[in-house]
Amino acid sequence: MTDLLSLSRAARLTGVSRGTLQKRIRHGEIETFEGQVRVSDLLRLYPSVSLEHSGLLKQVERIKANAVPRDRDPDHPLPSPEVLLSRLHALSDALAEQVNRANALQGLLDQLRVQLTQTIPERATRERLLGWLDAECAAIAEQPEAEARRQLLAKDNFLRLIAASVKVIPSGHEFFVEGSEPILNAAVRAGLRMNYGCSNGQCGACKARVISGEVWKVRDHDYVLSARERQMGYMLACSNTAVTDLVLEAAEAHSTADLPHQEIRARIRKLERQTDDLMLVQVQLPRTQTLRFIAGQSVRLRLNNAAEAECPIASCPCNGRTLHFYVRHRQDAFSDTLWQHAQIRDAVLVKGPYGDFVLREGHAAPAVFIACGDGIAPIKSLIEHAVSIDSVASLHLYWYKPASEDWLTSWCRALQDALDNFAFTLLTDADPTGVLARIQADLPEPRAACYYLAGMAGPIRPIEQVLRTLELEDDQLKVAELSSGSGDAAADECR
Ligand code: FES
Repeated sequence: MTDLLSLSRAARLTGVSRGTLQKRIRHGEIETFEGQVRVSDLLRLYPSVSLEHSGLLKQVERIKANAVPRDRDPDHPLPSPEVLLSRLHALSDALAEQVNRANALQGLLDQLRVQLTQTIPERATRERLLGWLDAECAAIAEQPEAEARRQLLAKDNFLRLIAASVKVIPSGHEFFVEGSEPILNAAVRAGLRMNYGCSNGQCGACKARVISGEVWKVRDHDYVLSARERQMGYMLACSNTAVTDLVLEAAEAHSTADLPHQEIRARIRKLERQTDDLMLVQVQLPRTQTLRFIAGQSVRLRLNNAAEAECPIASCPCNGRTLHFYVRHRQDAFSDTLWQHAQIRDAVLVKGPYGDFVLREGHAAPAVFIACGDGIAPIKSLIEHAVSIDSVASLHLYWYKPASEDWLTSWCRALQDALDNFAFTLLTDADPTGVLARIQADLPEPRAACYYLAGMAGPIRPIEQVLRTLELEDDQLKVAELSSGSGDAAADECR
């Protein structure tokens, strides 16, 4: 292990978010060296880091709990013996290199002692220099941070055994591959927008080039890479796992325009009433065809009687197989069908994705989310994505909701309890100027934040006008106006 760690590894080792570390970097508390931070800086800021206090053991337990025979669910197994052996081999190589260097340095010290003894004739000077050298060597071994440093190195090595880190170029995005899961699954879970199609080795869309590191094929694939491609290091991200830390050259979608239109036959997985007229609908997509979308987008759902509506996706792309929607009963064909006839496992056609209500990419500025009524649905997707990519400095959610409704409040509270950088304010009687006053009281620099506002046109337009008085740049304010298929009743109530 070197003295430098990537930001992702540093965040895992210390148990804080990447956003928190980035904030400390911006404040000059940690220096970075080509995107990496020093072990000594981490120990200075987080002196109590230890293996016992880390979440690593819990993480191993979680991976173990998820582990099932690989032919039943290959998503989150422990590393296979082959992968584990390769990782141990890589760690042994790194250890051998460090031991070699330590031996060479020890040899240099011994030579220095001989040189000092032979070239300094005056005994007092000679002994003073030799004494100084011995004292310095002893001091290095007894540095107060030596034990903490040893523990941090042990923890990092342990982490490298259970998860490999992947850096994608040219974007610089980073994520971890746990166990022997396919690289593509880990990338999607981390919120990356890597290209893919079939997810099972048939289309070649997930082709990526390994710049450094070692991969392991976890499934056979029908798509054939040419000899030239293999020679250049190309592999299929859906069919390979990372054995060691990787640098990958891979294409990613930069905007909603880069995503293809998709039509996927899926099934209703769950229908769960949240209130008298609000239903949580979960739609399960086939394992071989997940939906590529960006958090905050919508799809059109077509039920088996041809009733159809556009609905914002309320879940994160990190779980592209199960989509969540909140649907109001509005006496239209679509919601009538869901309330009166729909059953679990009914077929549903998913078409899309649509819309560009998505996070502003590459900005760590605080994000302010303002949801009016059912506008919480696309905002929930944005927040879950922001949490999974862990690169937004702070998240502030303001939600107008009738006091009589309790849905998703526990989700908001749970996030607030779990995250240092998430704040939630429930508003039941605020007006647009009241919202702005609240934001100005909560944020030291409201003009520097990015704003995401969603709901029905009636309540959100006055808020939009008030936010525009902050003289925000165009891409600092994103607005999603819900169509009539997604719950204007609650939105009207919160006006
Ligand atoms: S996504 Fe189709 S081959 Fe990997």
